[in-house]
Amino acid sequence: MKFFIDTADIKQIEEVNKWFPLAGVTTNPALVAKSGEKHHNLIRSICSIVKGSVSAEVLATSSKEMVKEAQVLAGLHSQVVVKLPLIQEGLKATRELNAKNISTNLTLCFSALQALAAARAGATFVSVFVGRLDDIGLDGMEIVAQTIQIFSQYQIKTRVLVASVRHLSHVLAAAELGADLITMPPALFLKMVEHPLTDKGLIQFLKAAGRKVD
Ligand code: G3P
Repeated sequence: MKFFIDTADIKQIEEVNKWFPLAGVTTNPALVAKSGEKHHNLIRSICSIVKGSVSAEVLATSSKEMVKEAQVLAGLHSQVVVKLPLIQEGLKATRELNAKNISTNLTLCFSALQALAAARAGATFVSVFVGRLDDIGLDGMEIVAQTIQIFSQYQIKTRVLVASVRHLSHVLAAAELGADLITMPPALFLKMVEHPLTDKGLIQFLKAAGRKVD
């Protein structure tokens, strides 16, 4: 499983990428607004930090406008993957962009059948929002499991991207299921490597070696 970071915060991307080489970055309009940066400048800056795919989302809701906006976003940098909502217009745009060799990430996916439709339209990635499914009392990871099973059954090339990740149980379950990719908020990268027994063991070893430990 490869790791993307789900943020538009340049400092956090730089910091995590120093010790956990990122395979990509996902942004969305809410994250971009929170960053306070101009969208295009932000995407260019992110591409200069991380050597991987950088998802930039369109704001248009008609396929015609989506395609126009997607072409501008794709023109910003070769690493850009255009994020489109998983609605009928988004699928129409995906087909057109696929024909133009522009990579796409179909976002706001909440069912395996939506994921299959995205794949058939030629999506490069499909983002299954597990946290938001859990929020309404459903099992987000179940949708990921169904999607992986269907994609493997039909040898579908669209990559399953586990998104809206809230905690480490999502990360572990995604890895166990064999998800292609996961996008995690910055804080989870540190949580993933921290363990109290590691800290305790390190202190024991340092003391045994005669080092003064605070
Ligand atoms: O990658 C999708 C993500 O940005 C949405 O996450 O936490 O807003 O559900 P969240």
